[in-house]
Amino acid sequence: MQKKVSINTKPLKGEISIPADKSISHRAVMLSSLAKGKSIIRNFSDGQDPLSTLKIFNQLGIESNITEDSIIIQSSGILKSTETPLDCGNSGTTMRLISGILAGQNFNSILIGDESLSKRPMKRIIEPLTQMGAQINSNDNKAPLKIIGQDLHAIDYNSNIASAQVKSCILLAGLGVNNGTTSVTEPYLSRNHTELMLKAMGANISTEGLKTSIQKSELSPIEIDICGDISSAAYFIVAALIIPKSKIILTNVGLNPTRTGIIEVIQNMGGNIQILDKKEVCGEIVGDLLVEYSELHSCEISGELIPKLIDEIPVIAVLATQVSGSTTIKDAQDLRNKESDRISAIVSELTKIGANIEELPDGMIIHGKSNLYGDCQVETYHDHRLAMSLYVAGLICEKEILINGFEWVSISFPTFEELFDILRK
Ligand code: S3P
Repeated sequence: MQKKVSINTKPLKGEISIPADKSISHRAVMLSSLAKGKSIIRNFSDGQDPLSTLKIFNQLGIESNITEDSIIIQSSGILKSTETPLDCGNSGTTMRLISGILAGQNFNSILIGDESLSKRPMKRIIEPLTQMGAQINSNDNKAPLKIIGQDLHAIDYNSNIASAQVKSCILLAGLGVNNGTTSVTEPYLSRNHTELMLKAMGANISTEGLKTSIQKSELSPIEIDICGDISSAAYFIVAALIIPKSKIILTNVGLNPTRTGIIEVIQNMGGNIQILDKKEVCGEIVGDLLVEYSELHSCEISGELIPKLIDEIPVIAVLATQVSGSTTIKDAQDLRNKESDRISAIVSELTKIGANIEELPDGMIIHGKSNLYGDCQVETYHDHRLAMSLYVAGLICEKEILINGFEWVSISFPTFEELFDILRK
C-alpha cells in the first residue's frame, strides 16, 4: 500500500492514549501460558506481532478467550506438541523468546517466519541454548528452526550484546531447568519486562547490576493491565517537537527506565517534554507525557543509552534533521539486524527527502537543521518502524512524499494514522 503524506500546516493539539506495549504483550501471553490457572490480560496489543505469539500458544494447546477488553488465558501450565510449524510472522521477539521455552520441552517443534524474519540472525540464541544442552537445527543459524526438545542444564552466560530477546530466551529456558541457577550478564542493561513479570508471577529470579539469575519456579497466573508502548508514543513525541506550535498530551505511556532513552535524548537536546502523573501499574511505571514544539540542539547518542531507545532510532534520526548541529548515533550496530538494516535504510530514505546524513558502521551522523524537500517516493523495507518514521518526516517536507509498503505499520500499530488524525482536528 502506498501512502501519500503532505506537510502538516496546522499544529498538533490534543490528547491521545497510546496503545499497548508490544514487548509486554508478548510476555503476558507467554508467561500466562506457562502458569497453571486463569490469567487475565487487559489492553493487549492489536499489532500483528503479539497476535502471532498468541496464535502459537493456541497451537501449543493453550486456551484463550478474547473478550471486548481482555484476553483470558486458561492453562494447565503444560504445553502440547504440534506437527504444524509455528509461524512467528515478522516477530523476532516471538521466535527468540519462544525458542527458550521450547528447547526444554519433551517434544519437538519447528519455528518459521516471514521473509524478513528468515534473514535475521538466530546464532545469538542458538549458541547459549546449545550450551544449555539444547538441540536446534537451523538454516545456517537462521530460521526455520527445528527444536528437538531436551532436558536442559543451567549455565552462567556472558552475552556480548545488550539484547532483551537474548536475555529473555535464556531466562525462559532457565525457568524450566531442574537443578541449578541459570544466569545472564549483558554489557548494558536491556529492557527488563521479562524479569519484572516473572518476579510478579512468583519466579525465583534476581538481578544484580547487569547479571540476572533464575531457578526453576512454578508461576502463578496474573491479572495485568498492559501500559502504552513508548516506542509507539515516540512518533507523536517527535512530530509534536518538530511541527511549530504543537502541544500534545500522550496518556498511559510505559516509562520503565530501561525504555525511556528517547526522553533522556530530548531533554539533552533542550526539548520541552514533561512527565505528568507517574504511577506504578502491574509492576511497570506508567505516566502521561506533555510535549511541545521546541528549538533543539544536537547531542551524542551512544553506549548504555542505545538499548534504552533501540527501536526509536529511526524516528530520532528524523528529529535530528531538525535540530541545530550534528547528532552522532554510535554503538548501534545491531540496528543492522532488525526488521531491516535500519542504519542503511534510514540513511538512504532520509537522504532522498533532503536530509544531510552520513552512514557509520555502527550508526550515523545527522547534520541539522535541514529543510526537507520531499517530492519523492520512499521505501519501508518491510519494516514498520521505517514506515512510521518516514510518515513523521513527511509531515514537515515542503512537497508531498509517497511511502511504499505503508501497510507494514500494522505489525505494531494498526491505529497509527487514526491517532494522528485526532491530533490534527
Ligand atoms: C524486544 C527487544 C529489542 C527490540 C525489539 C523488542 C523485546 O530487541 O528491538 O523490538 O521485546 O525483547 P533486541 O533484544 O534484539 O535488542
